[in-house]
Amino acid sequence: MSDLSRQAADLRRQINDHNYRYYVLDDPIISDGEYDQLLRQLENLETAHPELITPDSPTQRVGSAPLSAFDSVTHRLPLLSLANAMDEAGLAAFDERTCKSLAVETVEYIGEPKLDGLAVELVYENGLFVSGSTRGDGVTGEDITANLRTIASLPLTLRADEIDAPVLLEVRGEVFIRKDDFEKLNRRRSRDGEAIFANPRNAAAGSLRQLDPKITARRPLSLYCYQAGTINGLDYRFHWDFLQDLKCWGLPVNPLIERLSGSGAVIDYHRRLEAQRNDLPYEIDGSVIKVNSLAAREQLGIRSRSPRWAIAGKFKAQQATTVVLEITASVGRTGAVTPVAKLEPVFVGGVTVANATLHNQDEIDRLGVRAGDMVLIERAGDVIPKVVKAIIEKRPAGTVTYRLPAECPVCGHAVYRPPDEAVARCQNLACPAQIKGRIEHFVSKGALDIDGFGTKLVEQLVEIGRLTSVDQIFGLEEDELADLERMGEKSAAKLVAAIEKAKSTSFARFVFALGIRNVGEHLSRVLEKHFAGDIHRYMDTTAEELIEINEVGPIVAEGVVRFWADTANRQVVEACLSAGVKLAAPVAATGADFSGKTFVFTGSLEKFTRSEAKEMVSSRGGRASGSVSAKTDFVVAGPGAGSKLKKAEELGITVLSEEKFLSLIEE
Ligand code: IVH
Repeated sequence: MSDLSRQAADLRRQINDHNYRYYVLDDPIISDGEYDQLLRQLENLETAHPELITPDSPTQRVGSAPLSAFDSVTHRLPLLSLANAMDEAGLAAFDERTCKSLAVETVEYIGEPKLDGLAVELVYENGLFVSGSTRGDGVTGEDITANLRTIASLPLTLRADEIDAPVLLEVRGEVFIRKDDFEKLNRRRSRDGEAIFANPRNAAAGSLRQLDPKITARRPLSLYCYQAGTINGLDYRFHWDFLQDLKCWGLPVNPLIERLSGSGAVIDYHRRLEAQRNDLPYEIDGSVIKVNSLAAREQLGIRSRSPRWAIAGKFKAQQATTVVLEITASVGRTGAVTPVAKLEPVFVGGVTVANATLHNQDEIDRLGVRAGDMVLIERAGDVIPKVVKAIIEKRPAGTVTYRLPAECPVCGHAVYRPPDEAVARCQNLACPAQIKGRIEHFVSKGALDIDGFGTKLVEQLVEIGRLTSVDQIFGLEEDELADLERMGEKSAAKLVAAIEKAKSTSFARFVFALGIRNVGEHLSRVLEKHFAGDIHRYMDTTAEELIEINEVGPIVAEGVVRFWADTANRQVVEACLSAGVKLAAPVAATGADFSGKTFVFTGSLEKFTRSEAKEMVSSRGGRASGSVSAKTDFVVAGPGAGSKLKKAEELGITVLSEEKFLSLIEE
C-alpha cells in the first residue's frame, strides 16, 4: 500500500468511526466542523488521486445518475405488517394469547417505539451494503439503493471489530425525518417557494421516491433498524441479541428498546412511551411488542400478513376541543381552493394549533361544521391538524352553513370544480397565488425547458413584481437580470439567450407548459397531432371535438374548454405569441404507428438514451411507462435488465432488443 492510499484508508476509517460514535453510540467526540474537515480532506485527496476512491468511501454516497424509474425487487422474505392493539386491554389480550399458544406462564418481549416513517430493507453481503428497497406491498418493493446510500447514518460497510459481518444480512428498518429536521426542511421549502410537506412521514416518503439521488441527499433522512430478514452465516436465538449485534456492526438501533417480562411490563412500557411521545425528537405512533425468542416465534407462526409474535400498541389520538373563529378559503400553488378553519388556539400533541384544514366542500358538508362551532380536532404529526367533528349540541345561535366562494379569493376568477373531483380550482394563468408555481412549470424540462431559470430566480422576480404572468418571461432583459441577487452579467446573458432559444418550441411543449389540469406531456402530444400544431384551432375547440379524440374524456374536455373560456388565459397565450413564441408544426414521425401501445425500457440502453427512447415512442402515438404490467405491450431490454425483464417474461409480454426496437420503428 502506498503512503497516499494508507492516508485515504485512514481518513475513511476515522470518518466511519465518528459516524459510529454519532449515530449508534450517540456519543460524538468531535464537532460537526471537525467532521466536515475530515470529509473534505478525503475529498481533496480523492480528487487529486481518483484511483484511491473506493465504492464504500464516505465521499461516494451520491454516486449514480438519475434513474428513469425504479426497478422492482422481490423480497426474499416478505415484509409483514403488524396487527394493532387499540388499547391496554388489547395488549393484555395479546400476551394472554401468546402465553396460551406457547403453554407458558410468562413470555419475554422486546418493546420498541413504533416509528412513523417508511419501512425499508437493507441488504449487506460480506459486510458491504449492496442494495435496499421499499416495503412495497410486502412481497415486492422498489429498488431504492442509490437513495438509501445517501443516508448518513446508513453504514456502507459494516464494522467488524467485535463480530464479523455475516455472508448475507438482510435487515429491516424505518427511514424517517426528525421533528427539528422536518421544520428546517419545510422552512427552507417555503422560503424557496416550494410546497411544504404535511408531516415528516410524507416528507420521508417523498424523499425516498426521488429518481435523482442528489435530491434525496439534500433531505435529512434518519434510520433505525429493528428487524431481521434472511441471515446467512450466523444463527440467533433471540431478537435482543440480533439488535445488539446490529449496533456492533454500526447500524443504528433505537435507544428506547427494552426487554419486558410479562404483560405488566408491556403495559408499563407502552404507557411510558406514550407519556414521552411529544418530547421525543421524532414521531412515533405507538409501541411495538415482539416475542424475544426466535424459537417461540417459529412456534407462533404468522397469520395472512402479520406475525402472531408481534403487535403494535396504538396510542390514543391526540385530540382537543376548541372553537372555530372563522372559515376561510386559501389558494395553493396549484390553484386548489382549500377551506381552512381558523381556531381559538389550543395546545394539542405538544404544539399550539390555530388552524385546521377542512380539505374541501364535501368534507365541510360531511362534518356540518360552521364558523362559531365547537369542534374536536386531532393531530397526527401533521403540520395542519384536522377537524374530527363539530359538536352540534353546543352550537351557538345565529351560525350559518359555509360554502366555498365561487370566485378565487386571491384573483377573483371563477373557481371550477370538475364533476368527479372533490377539489375546486382557480384556473387563471396569472393568479398571484399560483404564479410562482405556474412559472416554474412553464420553464421546466418537459415544458419550455429554459436552462438556468431556477426556483430562486422565479421567487425574486415574482416578489419584486417583475413577473405577474408567464408571458412576461419573454420581456426580461439582461441588465435587469444582472442586478438580481446571485446573478451576474454572464449568467444574465446566458439566461436571456436561453429564453430566446425557448421561443422556438413545439405545440406540445407549449401546451404542456400552460399547466392545464390533466393535460400532461403525453396528452399534449396527442393534441398536437390532432390540431396539426395550430394553437388557435386548439383555443377555439369545443368539448364535442375534444371528446372525439382517442384518450380525451369528457372531464378533460370540459376542463380545457373552460380554460379557454377565460379571456385572461387567451390573452396570456396571445402575449406569448406576440413576444415571438413560435410553435413548430409537428413533424410526422415516419414508420410505425404506436397508437395505444405501451413500452417499458429496462436495463442499460446503449443505442439511445432513455429520453430519446421515450420520444421515439410518444412521437408515434405510443406511451412509455416505468413499470411492467399486464397492460404493457413491449419491453425493450438492454444489457443488465433485471426484474422488469423477468416480469415481462412471466407475463408473456413481447421482449425486444434495442436493435429489434429500432427496426420496428423503421417498419
Ligand atoms: S417490525 C413483523 N418494528 O410498522 C414485523 N415495524 O405495521 C413488522 N414500524 O411496515 C415490522 N416501527 O413501517 C417493526 N420497531 C418497529 C417498527 C415497525 C415502525 C412500522 C413498519 C412496518 C409497520 C408494520
